[in-house]
Amino acid sequence: MQNFTFKNPTEILFGKGMIREVAGRLPKDQSVLFLYGGGSIKKNGVYEQVRSALKGYRVTEFSGIEANPLYETCLKAVDVVKKEKIGFILAVGGGSVLDAAKFIAAAACFKGNDLWSILRECGNNVKDALPVGAVLTLPATGSEANGNSVISRQSTQEKLYFHSPYVYPVFSVLDPETTFSLSAKQVRNGIVDTFVHIMEQYMTYPAQTPLQDRLAESLLQTLIEVTPVLFKKPKDYESRATFMWTATLALNGLIGCGVPEDWSTHMIAHELTAFYGLDHAETLAIVMPGVWQYKLTAKKKKLEQYGRRVWNVKTAKDAMTRTEAFFHSIKMLTRFGDYKISAKEAARKVRERFAERDSVFGEHEDITPDAVAKILLSRA
Ligand code: NZQ
Ligand code: ZN
Repeated sequence: MQNFTFKNPTEILFGKGMIREVAGRLPKDQSVLFLYGGGSIKKNGVYEQVRSALKGYRVTEFSGIEANPLYETCLKAVDVVKKEKIGFILAVGGGSVLDAAKFIAAAACFKGNDLWSILRECGNNVKDALPVGAVLTLPATGSEANGNSVISRQSTQEKLYFHSPYVYPVFSVLDPETTFSLSAKQVRNGIVDTFVHIMEQYMTYPAQTPLQDRLAESLLQTLIEVTPVLFKKPKDYESRATFMWTATLALNGLIGCGVPEDWSTHMIAHELTAFYGLDHAETLAIVMPGVWQYKLTAKKKKLEQYGRRVWNVKTAKDAMTRTEAFFHSIKMLTRFGDYKISAKEAARKVRERFAERDSVFGEHEDITPDAVAKILLSRA
C-alpha cells in the first residue's frame, strides 16, 4: 500500500427531508448566493424546500448554470458575489452546479486577474475560497464530497478540472427523494459515471490493497444490483438511497487511499465532451473499453480479479465483454459510430490537445498523446 493522507471535511446530511437541516448551518451574518441550474429544482419541489430553509437569511439567486458548466457563466456569478458581498455559496442541483459553485468560490478569493489559471494549474494556485454548501439532486459525480471541479470554456472548447482542499463542500444534503424526477437518461449517466469513478481507482494492477479492492468491488456489486430497480421503480426510496450513497463513496477519496490510480478515461473523455458536446458519461463509456483493451497486458491481473469477483467469469476478456454489455443493458452506447462521430477525427483532435499540453497519464504514466490516438481509433 502506498503512503496516503485522507481528509474529507464534508458533513453529509443524508435522507428524507434533510434539506431543512441547511437552516442551522449557514452563518447568520453572511449573504448567501443560492446557485442553481436550468430550473429542474423548480419542478420537483426542491426550490421551495431550499427557500424555506433559507428564511431569515439575506439571499441572492443565480440560476442558469449549464450542464458542463461554462467558465463564461461562472465569471458572471463571480461579479455578483463581489457586488453583493456574498459570504456563502449554496449550490443546489447536479454535479455541474456544485462544480460551478466551487470554481466561483475559489475565483472570488483569487489574488490575480487570470482566473482561467486556476484550471490551467489544476488548482495549485488556489489559496482560499468562500465556503460552499450543497444540496445534491443527481447522484453521479461525487462532487458533493470532494474538492474537484470541472469547468468548460466555450471560447476555446476546453474542459479542465481543478482540485483544491479549500473547495470541499462544508456540508452536502443528500435526500434521495430529490432524485425521483430524474429522467432515465440522467439515471443511466449517473450509473456509468459512478461505475467509471470506481474503475479509475481500481482497474490498475495488484498493489497489496485487499481492503480497498474489496471496497471498490462492493460498490460495483451494489451498483449493478440496484440498477434494474432504478429504472423499473423510479420512486423507490431505498434503491435511490443506495444509488446516491454509492455514488458519493465512489469519489469521496476513500477507495483511492493508498492505491495506484488511472484516470486516463476521464482525461480523454473530458476532451470529447469539449469537442462534441456529448454527456460526460457518454464519453466515458466510449473511452474506458478502449483504455482496457490498449492496456490489456498491464491490467490483466486486475481485470481477471474483477471478472471473478464481480461477474463470476474467468477471463479478462469476459470481464470486458460483461462490462460493455452492462452499459448496453442500460441503453448506454459505447462507440463513436453510435453517435455518427468520426473516430479518426476525434483521435486527431484529442491527440493534438494532449501534445500541446505535453500530457501523459495512466497508472504507469504511459498514456501518451499517441496512445490516446490509438485508443480512440479503436472505438470507431
Ligand atoms: O440544470 P437543471 O435544470 O438543474 O437540470 C439538470 C441538468 O440538465 C438535470 N437535473 C439535475 N438534477 C435533477 C435534474 N433533472 C431532474 N431532476 C433532478 N433531480 O440533469 C442535467 C445534468 O446535470 P449535471 O449537473 O450536468 O449532471 P452531473 O451531475 O452528471 O454533472 C456533470 C458534470 O460534472 C463533471 C462532469 O465533467 C460534468 O461537467 N464531473 C465532476 C466531477 C467532480 N466534481 O468530482 C467528477 C466527474 O468525473 C465529472 O467530470
Ligand atoms: Zn466522472
